[in-house]
Amino acid sequence: SLKGVILVGGPSVGTRFRPLSMDCPKPLFPIAGRPMIFHHVAALAKLPGMKEILIVGFFENSIFDRFLTEIQMEFPNVPIRYLREYQALGTGGGLFHFRDQISRGDPDQIFVLNADIASSFPLQAMLDFHLKHQGVSTILGIRVDRSLVSKFGCVVANPETHEVLHFVEKPESFLSDMISCGIYLFRKEIFEVVRAAIDQRQAKLEEQGIDDSTIRGGSERIQLEQEVLSLLTSAKKLYAYVCVPGKDFWMQIKTGSSVIPANRLYLQHFFHTAPRKLSNAPKPSLSDITNKADEGVAEVIQPAYIHPTAIIHPSARLGPNVSIGPRVLIGRGVRVRDSILLDNVEIKNDSCILNSVIGWDSKVGSWSRVEGAPGESTALNTTVKGYKIPSATILGKDVTIADEIAIRNCIVLPHKDIKASQHNEILM
Ligand code: GTP
Repeated sequence: SLKGVILVGGPSVGTRFRPLSMDCPKPLFPIAGRPMIFHHVAALAKLPGMKEILIVGFFENSIFDRFLTEIQMEFPNVPIRYLREYQALGTGGGLFHFRDQISRGDPDQIFVLNADIASSFPLQAMLDFHLKHQGVSTILGIRVDRSLVSKFGCVVANPETHEVLHFVEKPESFLSDMISCGIYLFRKEIFEVVRAAIDQRQAKLEEQGIDDSTIRGGSERIQLEQEVLSLLTSAKKLYAYVCVPGKDFWMQIKTGSSVIPANRLYLQHFFHTAPRKLSNAPKPSLSDITNKADEGVAEVIQPAYIHPTAIIHPSARLGPNVSIGPRVLIGRGVRVRDSILLDNVEIKNDSCILNSVIGWDSKVGSWSRVEGAPGESTALNTTVKGYKIPSATILGKDVTIADEIAIRNCIVLPHKDIKASQHNEILM
């Protein structure tokens, strides 16, 4: 049997995700209409033999109450629980701390998923591969452009056996174009390996005369990739299953801007695999949003997710790669593409929203333009007021954009009233 663990971290981790994390814990930020970790739970829950899914982090318990209630109704056959670390224990520490709960029912294999990723989650293929080798663990790897490798955990594997020969976090020189996706599968022996990693570190600290109670998280804090996987690698017990190009997708969700490509990937994935998951037929709008419009249906270019409670003027054009949240109101002649509109957003007549996130309760006036650079632009790496200039425009919660202005590549903090056009700015 199987268990699933999702590592969600805690409130201090999401700083690069500001201003969106100011009003929503990052793991619950909606992507393709569902909370970020809904996609993880869905992938785990559909595996035959999945006995329980445990969400591990150091957010307050109440943060996940509503999510757990809703998701439990959707997946009634797999218990889903939140386990709270008393403090940040690192990616391996929480796993070790809750080893008794994770091991309860004696699962043979344990999946561990980082929360801050978007993926097609090829978990069944990983499991099939895993059951054929003699190691303790399988990690999911993906080949990326060599210019990107230095930002990730780099994996060097034997091309025939797929045994991991080296595992180097954020390598300074080029070793391989394969990186670790933050998706792991462990046999139950993993807890012994984590204990060995903790003991090894303890011994090293004692040697150096350092008291580990002075270190954050104390002796229980341990990093999965840096400390546990390196031990497995030297013991020749780590293998890599590689994402299939053109079939699987994977990306990290670190910055606020990265939710735009993540949204696009999930929408495209669902459109091809389960089109019914997207509500692709917006109902005829209430024609009194603005002037009197003819009863009709807005043009939607797929893929798009539109919440059934959104009201959209028939002359609006939405998509592709758009997620429209609950109770959103979209006026006459509006154009929305490659964007996420969160709950209760209102877009007035003839405005245009491209490559942007429009935060909860925000309003965009008429004939305005809110726009980010397409794609994950690496050209914009300048930092202003402690924020990186984003490649998407991000409006926090309750922002008001006046009529007839243009906002390009800006981060707008919550509750701002913007009355003039802005470009490459952090508006706080
Ligand atoms: P960087 O942020 O660039 O170091 O990348 P990374 O992918 O190595 O991130 P990290 O290892 O910090 O986080 C991976 C996942 O684990 C994320 O989903 C985090 O939310 C989660 N995580 C990080 N630290 C902790 C922790 O102390 N406890 C728990 N439960 N989860 C954590």
